[in-house]
Amino acid sequence: MASGDSVHGMWSSRLMFILAAAGSAVGLGNIWRFPYLAGENGGGVFVVVYLLCIFLVGIPIMSGEILLGRSGRQSPISTMRDLTARSGAHPAWQLVGWMGALAGFMIISFYSVIAGWAISYIFQMGSGAFNGADAQYASSAFSAFTGDVVSVVGWHSLFMVLTIFIAARGVGRGLEVTVKYLMPALFFLLITLVVYSAVTSGHFMEGVAFMFSLNFDKFTWAGALSAMGQAFFTLSLGMGAIMAYGAYMPKSASILGTATTIALLDTSVALMSGLVIFPLVFANGLESSAGPGLMFITLPLAFGQMVGGQIFGVVFFVLVTFAAITSSISLLEPAVAWVVEKGGFSRAKGAILVGALAWFVGLGSAFSTNIWAGFTVLGGLTFFGLMDYVANNIMLPVGGVLIVLFAGWKLEQKTVDEQMAGDLRFLPVWRVLVRFVAPLAVSVIFVLTFV
Ligand code: PFF
Repeated sequence: MASGDSVHGMWSSRLMFILAAAGSAVGLGNIWRFPYLAGENGGGVFVVVYLLCIFLVGIPIMSGEILLGRSGRQSPISTMRDLTARSGAHPAWQLVGWMGALAGFMIISFYSVIAGWAISYIFQMGSGAFNGADAQYASSAFSAFTGDVVSVVGWHSLFMVLTIFIAARGVGRGLEVTVKYLMPALFFLLITLVVYSAVTSGHFMEGVAFMFSLNFDKFTWAGALSAMGQAFFTLSLGMGAIMAYGAYMPKSASILGTATTIALLDTSVALMSGLVIFPLVFANGLESSAGPGLMFITLPLAFGQMVGGQIFGVVFFVLVTFAAITSSISLLEPAVAWVVEKGGFSRAKGAILVGALAWFVGLGSAFSTNIWAGFTVLGGLTFFGLMDYVANNIMLPVGGVLIVLFAGWKLEQKTVDEQMAGDLRFLPVWRVLVRFVAPLAVSVIFVLTFV
């Protein structure tokens, strides 16, 4: 280990950091959540607010997280503790690390469950069960599957075991090896699917029009809040995942350039997923506003009607599973790194401990479509809905703003100058974005949504 490296390991190059962070960013958020939220919130207007949030809020916050992570070179909780002390800031700033860990557990609770659904659908598609199926069949198959507590818990458990296995192998042999193979595979599969959807659906331009035509009647502040929450969720911001990954980033790489590359990769995957899904939805006369079931009901149905659909259906759900795994390892990383630092555990023991806890919290979401489906709060949110809403729409934006305020106003100048040495030309713009634009934009959306 070279001096100044993290005890947890290091990415072997800037490219590997980009792949790992893009692996974290690209996930269920892009393929499952983005299309259904865009569908529920009227398409184009949602997409525009989302894109504005990515560039004006997301990239500054991502650079702030990388900056803090690389300055601290430890788990987010320890990094925030040390940087708070080093900068002479109020000790309350340390809470940012803890809040992130809490948000991480809330997110993994539903993430692993949905990823489990995706694994199950690889086999359901492969069995040919959807060949020639009608809408009635596809939606009752979905309800029957999610209503079966044993299956849902079983697939959730399998997904968590896979995540723990990779996390246990460590930064170099686990995380890096995984993203090195899965990320290129994911891009390849996705491009194949876009072409397939464009060529065979016959409704490609309708999908494009839905995603990009601006329909201002459909604008609501609640929709804007969802778009902002989605920008945080999709870039993995506000809970320390990117901070944790930044801790293993080589010293010389430029932060702003890297953050921009990651955001562009992530955005292109979200848009491509929309271009796979919406043409298929319209080709089959389905509802774009179907909600969380969009991907699991409409796609099997669409594939079931198409030439080669059985194979492409399998390919699609393999892609979703790959994307989910490279994200879930990043959801565990902040807590695993902290447990290793604090508890003196080996990486393997730490991963098992944290993964077991995450699995347990996840049971709440696994039960939300069956034995706990009747328990709702706040006007109809199940445990799963509550975790999703509170973590994504509130905790991630609040965490992200605190991170960027700390990086912009509190961190000692010397550290900022050192870390941003590769971005000198853009430093003044960066400062304005980090100090003013990002925090203000988030505050405006909060105020206008809730007041
Ligand atoms: N960015 C991931 C996705 O779009 O699926 C989800 C995610 C991963 C959110 C890691 C937050 C996080 F820390």
